[in-house]
Amino acid sequence: MQKRIDFYTHALDQLNASEVYFGHGTECAEDEVWWLMASVLRLPIEGDFEVLMDAPLTEAEWHNLEQVLMQRIQKRIPLAYLLHEAYQNGYQFYVDERVLIPRSPIAELIQNQFQPWIREEAVTQILDLCTGSGCLAILAAYAFPEAQVVGSDLSADALEVAAKNVALHQMQRQVSLAQSNVFGSLGQGRYDIIVSNPPYVDAPDFESMPKEYQHEPSMALEAGADGLEIVRQILKEAKSHLTPGGILVVEVGNSASALEAAFPDLPFIWLDFERGGDGVFLLREADL
Ligand SMILES: C[S@@+](CC[C@H](N)C(=O)[O-])C[C@H]1O[C@@H](n2cnc3c(N)ncnc32)[C@H](O)[C@@H]1O
Repeated sequence: MQKRIDFYTHALDQLNASEVYFGHGTECAEDEVWWLMASVLRLPIEGDFEVLMDAPLTEAEWHNLEQVLMQRIQKRIPLAYLLHEAYQNGYQFYVDERVLIPRSPIAELIQNQFQPWIREEAVTQILDLCTGSGCLAILAAYAFPEAQVVGSDLSADALEVAAKNVALHQMQRQVSLAQSNVFGSLGQGRYDIIVSNPPYVDAPDFESMPKEYQHEPSMALEAGADGLEIVRQILKEAKSHLTPGGILVVEVGNSASALEAAFPDLPFIWLDFERGGDGVFLLREADL
């Protein structure tokens, strides 16, 4: 009889010998195999690893695990899509290939209630532009239970996934979803916080990305020659959608230097993260 540890070792060898890229929820083969086994076998995440791995593994269980592992390695599909789950701030979200896999460092700012940039009690309206799976909108609703949150996206497909997540988290009263090209269909509403993780990958970066990214929607990643196509639209209109004292927080990743060059007069504040990540700026309403 095989044990779980036998599959663990086998999967680790297979992943390490392959060309898979980590970066869609894990950073190494060990984390990826543990996630695969914990999800497929429904293992308790807090359990003792050695005790859990010492248990027997049936042939059917091995077969199920192997099937997922082979798709991961041969088709280079990110594990989050194969398992239909992703995690941010300890919350689980449903994902499939209609949405980007949640990984924005903005989640950490939300967990910290954007301290010291805004007073928590001043926050009643939040907008998550380019919401994708709805993850940041839902996390904002958890962090600011008294606030109303709008999550908007141009993609009807993404909004279907976001709606599923809003329902899974029972946030229908606090989070509403809207289809909109940036601010285009959002009306005159004003928000105390606008967050956005828009598409921001420039053409050369897009060409050179690992195969895993090809499974994500291209409209979630690509943003023209310099990666700033959507960010420019956000900057143009953000002021008229912020309340006095409101803040705009946008992830632009590698496009940060192109942004600084394109908007030399804007006083971007580049934020630091304890859990890693960079390329996120903050602007105050008065600075826009
Ligand atoms: C990088 S993903 C971010 C998803 C999610 N906020 C997250 O952090 O995981 C960018 C999202 O922007 C959406 N998008 C692309 N172009 C857009 C536009 N012109 N207006 C609104 N949303 C757009 C895409 O459909 C995609 O869901």
